[in-house]
Amino acid sequence: MAEVTLDKIVSLCKRRGFIFPSSEIYGGLNGAYDYGPLGVNLKNNIRDFWWREMTQIHDDIVGIDASILMNSQVWKASGHVSNFTDPMVDCKVCHARFRADQIDLNGPCPNCGNKGSFTAPRNFNLMFVTHIGPTADDASTVYLRPETAQGIYVNFKNVVTSARMKVPFGIAQVGKSFRNEITTKNFIFRSCEFEQMEMQWFCKPGTDDKWFPYWREQRMAFYGKMGIQMDHLRWHQHGPDELAFYAKDAYDIQYLFPMGWQELEGVHDRTDYDLTQHQKFSGKDMSYLDPMTNEKYIPYIVETSAGLTRNVLMVLSDAYEEQQLADDTRVVLHLHPAIAPIKVAVLPLQKKDGLAEFASKLEHDLRHYFVTDYDVSGAIGRRYRRQDEVGTPYCITVDYDTLNDNTVTIRYRDSMEQKRIKIQDIPAEVAKADAEYKRA
Ligand code: GAP
Repeated sequence: MAEVTLDKIVSLCKRRGFIFPSSEIYGGLNGAYDYGPLGVNLKNNIRDFWWREMTQIHDDIVGIDASILMNSQVWKASGHVSNFTDPMVDCKVCHARFRADQIDLNGPCPNCGNKGSFTAPRNFNLMFVTHIGPTADDASTVYLRPETAQGIYVNFKNVVTSARMKVPFGIAQVGKSFRNEITTKNFIFRSCEFEQMEMQWFCKPGTDDKWFPYWREQRMAFYGKMGIQMDHLRWHQHGPDELAFYAKDAYDIQYLFPMGWQELEGVHDRTDYDLTQHQKFSGKDMSYLDPMTNEKYIPYIVETSAGLTRNVLMVLSDAYEEQQLADDTRVVLHLHPAIAPIKVAVLPLQKKDGLAEFASKLEHDLRHYFVTDYDVSGAIGRRYRRQDEVGTPYCITVDYDTLNDNTVTIRYRDSMEQKRIKIQDIPAEVAKADAEYKRA
């Protein structure tokens, strides 16, 4: 089987309109990307699949959407202002900057090759700083949030009282985060602007020992539901030197990306660190009063924190295959139908004899059920290949028999099998195939 490389994924993304470099006509911007027509559908579908899993399938999880800009006290309380740093060194000769933990400080500069040219490591804060209002001074400083989690913590009491939630319960959020990452290679894997899907589970102190393994299991199972190859996923427990400043214990779900095993999602036992800090800095009571037992305590938090944009790269890498067929090769994305950017493509066998008009009308009718595409240009085999390459699970072909008996062929992307069905059965057939989907 041909190797899946990052270059192949990047090229497919550009060619077919999944992902483009940001502001490309000006030479791009490091660590920033734009999602094209297919990319935004894929990203939104992964987001919706996660949202449904967390807020609909699981008990007692509600959603919020907090603003990106927050009172800067939040980041002092959370520890990000003082601790969210990477150790950096500069090359004194070429002025290139590197993460001190990613290079040999006694070796040559990876950029210019000079030896002994590095400055002593200095801590570099990853938060982007800006100002709110007309003056740029300390009082107007705001940060672009580096994680969505804090927006959840500061709303803990609002949610408890307004939604009458009882501990244990969770708050979920999806949104943009920003980090001034110095090493942004590997496409969208590590970018300066990215999206996170986070869920914070508030529980009674001591019960975190039960919920932490529960959420680890749930989160790994989620990727199975999304059709990911489970042998490409594994756990990595953080050692004492890797643990974030807020965590008592932490596990990463790692995925076997084209560049090797890398973190996809983190599950963290954050204890009562965050709410205690916010109580201290805001002077507001962040404790919870159990209405049954009258016990008052600051809840512990088990966090599940996944990168949405990193999930996009994972899903594309996982789905990508160059398949050798008897008389041809094809690029196919084995995307789970629930997240495929286009669900059904309608293809008239010929343009002439009324087939195109019939197919176009059918495609319009099907829009009420699925995201559809209509393609009339080129040989039918070429059109199937174009749909395979973007992961469209079902192609509906309108041919001469269709005009007589209102039947079409449905072609399944992974097996390439075709069968004849009645037009009115298309929605039910697609729903059945979706429900039974197993990656070939
Ligand atoms: N609230 C906890 C938190 O933010 P994290 O391990 O720093 O934890 C969680 O980030 C997830 O966010 C990562 O597993 C990754 O998927 C994603 N992520 C973090 N930094 C990223 C970046 N620069 N670009 C893309 N995704 C990133």
